[in-house]
Amino acid sequence: MAKTHTFTCNACGASSTKWSGRCESCGEWNSIIEEAPLSAGPAKKSLGGKRGRALNLTDLSSDEVPPPRTHSGMDELDRVLGGGLVPSSAILVGGDPGIGKSTLLLQAAASFARKGLKTIYVSGEEASAQVRMRADRLGLRDAPVQLATETNLRDILTTLETEKPQLAIIDSIQTMWADNVESAPGSVSQVRAAAHELTTFAKRRGMSVILVGHVTKDGQIAGPRVIEHMVDTVLYFEGERGHQFRILRAVKNRFGPADEIGVFEMTGAGLSEVTNPSALFLSERDKPAPGSVVFAGIEGTRPVLCELQALVAPSPHSQARRAVVGWDSGRLAMILAVLEARCGIPFTGLDVYLNVAGGMRITEPAADLAVAAALLSAREDTALPADTVVFGEISLSGALRPVGQTENRLKEAAKLGFSGAIAPSGGKTSGAGGLNIQKMPDLTAFVGEIFGAG
Ligand code: TYD
Ligand code: MG
Repeated sequence: MAKTHTFTCNACGASSTKWSGRCESCGEWNSIIEEAPLSAGPAKKSLGGKRGRALNLTDLSSDEVPPPRTHSGMDELDRVLGGGLVPSSAILVGGDPGIGKSTLLLQAAASFARKGLKTIYVSGEEASAQVRMRADRLGLRDAPVQLATETNLRDILTTLETEKPQLAIIDSIQTMWADNVESAPGSVSQVRAAAHELTTFAKRRGMSVILVGHVTKDGQIAGPRVIEHMVDTVLYFEGERGHQFRILRAVKNRFGPADEIGVFEMTGAGLSEVTNPSALFLSERDKPAPGSVVFAGIEGTRPVLCELQALVAPSPHSQARRAVVGWDSGRLAMILAVLEARCGIPFTGLDVYLNVAGGMRITEPAADLAVAAALLSAREDTALPADTVVFGEISLSGALRPVGQTENRLKEAAKLGFSGAIAPSGGKTSGAGGLNIQKMPDLTAFVGEIFGAG
């Protein structure tokens, strides 16, 4: 049989039979590499092995309750995991290089170990002396964590076999290599093989495993996306360089809500938890300025207030610029179009910049109205009252739709000293904590009422 070449995308793991400059599956450029073909091997004549056995769901007796979750004591981490670490679970923590994954996981390892979980931290990137130096700096020298510095998968599995930890942290999956796979460490086949071995080992032995995965823009090594489907929980550690805030975001979780976030601050002595993110995100706010609006958002199960900043200025270019940080650019284009079509407010010939302060990234459509308010406030050079929060979804017709958890948003705003809110009509606003609520049916009413123009 002639060997067929396989080409695999380093970003999403899709395979194809020919090379191309751009992955058809995920759209990433320059991420496709040729992989050594898998040896076919002799075909199995019969299906050997043990016969599978199926159970009736109703047969599971109620005293076979799963062992309880372990809390690390780092509340921000426990919440993102859905309320602590589930035994035998596989977790992937992805993020840009240098964002603080190793720091976070060394701290997590120490916290879990102090709670009595037998924990091993396997570093494939740093020597043990370096890990120890970092532990010193983080004040974790006395934590009962075991350290291993290995990259060979076979050696790691042997170590895990003898040590029998309850939690193993693998930093990072891209440095691991299986000697039975013929490609370089960091390639799709290696990353997949290592993740597969480690997660199946974990499920079989009742051990939890946390895999660290680097996100790479250049596609030189396989990204964490190629193994997302193998794990129970996928967390991304994000943040803007130059900002000290770091957000741990659950994007998939078999054991808890997705979209939950944990907020941390990078300090000289490691990551410290931020228990009241709203207060932190708003702490850098200056006096009321045109273009600045406070959005009352919800991240996972928790309300988070943050500031949106817009700048609108005549464009010197033939094609006006639209630049967005922390929000979806497609959604910005939609709001600009609705403002123009439904309220007759054009942004043609104007550069538009939108920024979510503090390095936060918002994905909720509930931020639509706050974005529109920031854009209008910047365009009209009129500041909104500084003590007012804004939220609401805008539909293409210009109508405002009520959003979920209205009461929680209002309560958080009241707690932080805001006295007013602008919200869509129809949302449940009882229990608003004494906030003065201006309810708007549509964008035209909002523009008329707040900016006195149509
Ligand atoms: P690191 O955890 O090594 O990142 P990753 O594993 O995601 O590549 O973090 C590296 C950055 O964190 C580095 O730029 C320095 C900074 N840092 C601190 O600011 N304070 C600290 O206490 C530590 C340990 C790191
Ligand atoms: Mg690291």
